[in-house]
Amino acid sequence: MCGIAGYVGNRNAPEILFDMLKRLEYRGYDSAGIACISDQDVVIFKDRGRVDEIRESAGCERIISDIGIAHTRWATHGEPSECNAHPHSDCTNGFIVVHNGIIENYRDLREGLMERGHRFESETDTEVVPHLIEELYTQSFEVAFREAIKKLRGSFAIAAISIHEPDKILIARKESPLIIGLGDGENFIASDTPAILPNTRRILIMDDFDYGIVTKDRVKIKDIRTGDEIKKKIQTIQWSMEQAERGGYPHFMLKEIFEEPEAVKNATKAIKEIEDIAKKLTGYKRIYFVACGTAYHAGLLGKYLLERFSIPSEAVVASEFRYSTVNTIDSDCAVIAISQSGETADTLASVKEAKNKGAYVLSIVNVVGSTLTRISDDNIYTYSGPEIAVASTKAYLGQLTAITLLGLYLAGESGRIEMDYVNEIIDDINNLPGKIRQILNNEDEIKKLARRLANKNTFFYIGRRLNYPTALEGALKIKEISYVHAEAYPAGELKHGPLALLEDGIPVVAINPNDDLFRKMESNIQEARARKATIIVVGESGDLKTPVIDPLLSPLLYIVPLHLFAYHISVLRGLDPDKPRNLAKSVTVE
Ligand code: G6P
Repeated sequence: MCGIAGYVGNRNAPEILFDMLKRLEYRGYDSAGIACISDQDVVIFKDRGRVDEIRESAGCERIISDIGIAHTRWATHGEPSECNAHPHSDCTNGFIVVHNGIIENYRDLREGLMERGHRFESETDTEVVPHLIEELYTQSFEVAFREAIKKLRGSFAIAAISIHEPDKILIARKESPLIIGLGDGENFIASDTPAILPNTRRILIMDDFDYGIVTKDRVKIKDIRTGDEIKKKIQTIQWSMEQAERGGYPHFMLKEIFEEPEAVKNATKAIKEIEDIAKKLTGYKRIYFVACGTAYHAGLLGKYLLERFSIPSEAVVASEFRYSTVNTIDSDCAVIAISQSGETADTLASVKEAKNKGAYVLSIVNVVGSTLTRISDDNIYTYSGPEIAVASTKAYLGQLTAITLLGLYLAGESGRIEMDYVNEIIDDINNLPGKIRQILNNEDEIKKLARRLANKNTFFYIGRRLNYPTALEGALKIKEISYVHAEAYPAGELKHGPLALLEDGIPVVAINPNDDLFRKMESNIQEARARKATIIVVGESGDLKTPVIDPLLSPLLYIVPLHLFAYHISVLRGLDPDKPRNLAKSVTVE
């Protein structure tokens, strides 16, 4: 949710900043901008629209600058427009700021600043920051910056430059991600690692209440509250450049769907940790899965899986958990937070609240070193590699694999199932990548079906038990990238409302594994067929055919054709599946 970038070094800053923004575009893409210091003056290019469009009109080759900051926006305060786009400056154009997050007390700050004569040009919360720095500046940019930051409430990752001290970028963080990439005679600032990958792999991760002074040869980190210097450990990014590139695919989403076999395999790398953590979990009376979006659907599978083994469990979306479910949490509870990015604001807040109540917190995360991993008691990494498309696909497969392994070991450790059975299913998981590949090889068939249904504006997805989450995820995927109305229902609920909406030709996607509820699903399918709905069955002998699999693992297989199906519908409708309107990949605000 909004991406910020910064560069200071000897190369051409505008070129580097636009490259970095392009790699952060998945965080927001309604407007973008850069600010550089050139010849003791500030040059700002910003507008509504995509990074490439703004880059073209900026004409980087004409600007000579070796320091600057940049921003790609997902609007919170103020519509996407040129004046609301970042960077923002003060009345003198001497202090320039980019920001990701929400400054909750901006109204009070703005009113005060206006009374004291400051002029505002945007509707954003961010604009108060350069004006505060301007007001507090006497001789030191750093002192004014720190004092300004101390006045802010809410969440922020901020980068600022000033014509008064044109050799440095000042940065600060609270609850929004921010890293520093360490180069040779140059340094980089970014919201996330893909932005700096082509330039360096050595990073420092900013924590809450850290602020930093970054010049081309030096990085100093200090505590906002005390001003004391903090020593940070240099970390190395494990991801490769190729992983963060499209690699010949027309979209990141398609590439990432084709990486689903590897996502399953990579998640099994954590098997030893999973086994150990499962032992720990046996000591808790109740287990909660907490997450947002697609990750929540993975959590819901966790709940159904544990219930299958008679282990009490609940799955709750983080935005509800943090304000309601948390009232029931105590030290007998284990909370399993699931997140691709490890930066989702509601998930982080839920974990903090749960920890305050004495719960044990385990996180299932993709991004190593993310905030979530640093506030949890234990972590299971899914090792899915960078996921760039806004709609999550391969990361979901990684999450499902980790959760399934965890559920199996937990059931085994608590004596609900035989360890032999656990090992049998683990063998099946090892064979899963091959089965996923079989589905991907069948892409043309899936595309054909998508062509037949691309003009439909309403879809229903139904499933039962372990595949109710699959129905939810299938519907979410098509909704977010194709802008069609899609609803998912537990198949048994169809009669309690949605049937009223079914009419001739409305597609109903029915997920029907070969298990003890197969016939019950058949009956639900008949009910929809009788209302002339167009039925698409996902299953061993379905329209979206899947290889034979133990029903317990069917959620890990049956979502694959639904990901491909949603992707093709989106493309056929002339949309960009990588950048769905109004959405962002990393939701760092509440
Ligand atoms: C956004 C993304 C989804 C993602 C969700 C949770 O809504 O568009 O793809 O599932 O956030 O993100 P997380 O990083 O916590 O898994």
